[in-house]
Parts: sequence; C-alpha cells; structure tokens
Amino acid sequence: MTRSTRPGRLAAAVSSVFAASVIAAALAASAPPLHPPEPQRQTEGQVLENPVPATADSVATGRQWYVFMCRECHGNTGLGDGDMAHAGGDIPDFTDDVWLHGSRDGDLFRVIKEGVTADMQPYADRLDDEDIWHVVNYLRTLADRR
Ligand code: HEC
Repeated sequence: MTRSTRPGRLAAAVSSVFAASVIAAALAASAPPLHPPEPQRQTEGQVLENPVPATADSVATGRQWYVFMCRECHGNTGLGDGDMAHAGGDIPDFTDDVWLHGSRDGDLFRVIKEGVTADMQPYADRLDDEDIWHVVNYLRTLADRR
C-alpha cells in the first residue's frame, strides 16, 4: 500500500512547489518596482561622514556640477521639475524633508555615486568623491532656500 502512495505524494509536493515559483515569477514580472526593493540606507556602522566643509567655494563647485548634470531632471531649484522630468521616473523634491534613500550626507553621497534606478544613474565614473561631496553641499542649500 505505502509503495503505491509515496510517489504520488512526492509528485504532488513537487508540482505545488513548481506552481508557487511560477506564480512568484509572474508577480515579479508584472509589477516592476519604481524604487529598488531595498532602499540604499546605510546601517550605522557604514555611515559616511562628509569630509568636505560646506564653504562658499564648495557650494559653488557643487552648483556647477548640478547645473551641468542634474538640473535637466531635478530642476533649477531642486523641485524635480527639470526639462527631462516628463520623460519618466518620479523625480523627488530636494526642498522637502522627504529623502527616499536616507537623509544624511552619506546617504545622498551613496545615491549619487552608486545610483538607484535607470533614471537616477550612478555618477561614479563622471564625478570623483570630492566633487560628489561638493554636490551634496549644494543640494543642502536648496532645502535651506525653501
Ligand atoms: C535623468 C534624470 C535624472 C538626472 C540627470 C539626475 N537624477 Fe537624481 N534622481 C532622478 C530620479 C527619477 C530619482 C528618484 C529615484 C527613485 O525612484 O528612487 C532621483 C533621485 C535622486 C536622489 C535621491 C533623492 C531622495 O529622495 O533620496 C538624489 C540625492 C539625486 N537624485 C541627486 C542627483 C544628482 C546630484 C544628480 C546629478 C549629478 C542627479 N540626481 C541627476 C532622476 C535624475
């Protein structure tokens, strides 16, 4: 008796595992996430301290890079209303208190350096670390000007 039922149970178990993975794959394919599933927040042990003081020179340098590379999407004053904003992606407002990927200087640095989406690309190959910190210092002034 047991001999004839065992393979049947095994087959049923295998096919239900298979069905579950097909459903999971279908769900994943049908709903591409707007934001990465894991926000790039750093754990406390990984927090990067901003080594570049926010002097007028630093902010001015950051602004130059911003105008050159970021304004087209993020807008003149950081409201997310740049000329390319209509092209897709949900562009965040830098002047509010909402930071999708963490609000510390180190969080902003990581977003800019490593990127988060097809729209918000990594800038590691276009900006060196010091320039990224200058840009972070400039972004902070946008919120202050609100
Ligand atoms: C092609 C359009 C585009 C360009 C160019 C662009 N960004 Fe973004 N940026 C986005 C989008 C879209 C997001 C939102 C990403 C998401 O969905 O999480 C974003 C997110 C960010 C965030 C995270 C905001 C938050 O709430 O945490 C920062 C910081 C940022 N961008 C800085 C920059 C800087 C600095 C530059 C230029 C060096 C730049 N971006 C260039 C489209 C752009």
